Amino acid sequence: MENKKWSEDSQEIRKRALIMNWQEFSVMGEKDKTVFLNNIETDNPFHVLFSQQFDRRSLDLLCQVAEKARMIHKDRVEGRKFLKSLLFGTYALNFFHQPSTRTFLSFQTAQEVLGMGIRDIRDPSTSSEAKGETLEDSIRTFSSYFDLIIMRHENEQAAELGAWVLNKSDRRIPIINAGSGKDQHPTQALTDVYTLYKSFDGKIDGRTIVMVGDLARGRTVRSLSYLMKNYRGMKLIFVSPLHLRVSDDIRSFFDRHQISYREADNLREVIPVADAIYMTRVQDEWDQKDQGEPIPGQVKIHQPINPKYKFKKEYLDLMKENAVLMHPLPKRDEIDEEVGYSSDKRVVFWRQERNGMWMRVALIATIFQKENEILNWQ
Ligand code: CP
Repeated sequence: MENKKWSEDSQEIRKRALIMNWQEFSVMGEKDKTVFLNNIETDNPFHVLFSQQFDRRSLDLLCQVAEKARMIHKDRVEGRKFLKSLLFGTYALNFFHQPSTRTFLSFQTAQEVLGMGIRDIRDPSTSSEAKGETLEDSIRTFSSYFDLIIMRHENEQAAELGAWVLNKSDRRIPIINAGSGKDQHPTQALTDVYTLYKSFDGKIDGRTIVMVGDLARGRTVRSLSYLMKNYRGMKLIFVSPLHLRVSDDIRSFFDRHQISYREADNLREVIPVADAIYMTRVQDEWDQKDQGEPIPGQVKIHQPINPKYKFKKEYLDLMKENAVLMHPLPKRDEIDEEVGYSSDKRVVFWRQERNGMWMRVALIATIFQKENEILNWQ
């Protein structure tokens, strides 16, 4: 892969960003922030904060590296030893301020595949945050011991603040956003793109994607929407209750990039035209008027999904022969339980989870500039 040369303008933006204070930096446009966040030599993301950092070249590269790493790993002795040697002697911190199953575990496993040492913080009450340490100071402290930080946080700007702090420090280690409030989940979107890449033999252009459910607060929907600008002729259809419609900033992004989209009110009617159906859960944890804090040990009661937005088992019969049913997971009742146990090859959400692990291997390897070693392995 050829490296892109950075323009003089980009170098100027980067110099300016380095002396900006946080308030000045946080209001910069995404394009200018990307200059500050990406690797100056490779133009691949160094800190991974939002989907707009990725272009078609970097997405294709990540899919190819994920495919190759996966293939190498099948060689249980030499292949696995080689992958482990790539980042042996480096250390990763998985700092998860919000609950997670698959993002946490897939990052952890990806780090193990690459030979990294791993630590985690999943309960803030066990860190000095509980004594009033600022997030900035905590992140600088993490950088004293680690070479990579993965961060999930309810605050939409927390990972960005971390990147800003680290870029100014003498331990500029990469930070990856593993979910930021209701805003973005870029590594899930990379996983989704890799799943489309695998499902359609690398041919994503021109596909029709139906996104269903909580499109207002689902950060995976937002991040995947942003990535769609990198593919030609995509057609997006959004199906959601009125109060959970896709937000205005995403609509204006589609308009600016001439991405075709429309809204529909009934999932059943749009299934026959879909190449991919991307189901999402209603994120009622964000509801202000929720039923209050759950009692420990007691299962929280959720409102049942409106049947109009539910994927029923019989809908499998309406899908195109080569279409796929995706979900970032976790799921609740928005997909009939039986669909999850179906042997229908078009139900790909369990494979999508595993793809996430390989995409995270590719992403970490690329951040540490090991992509060519993987691609050139015999
Ligand atoms: N898709 C996803 O982010 O799942 P987790 O919340 O389990 O990490």
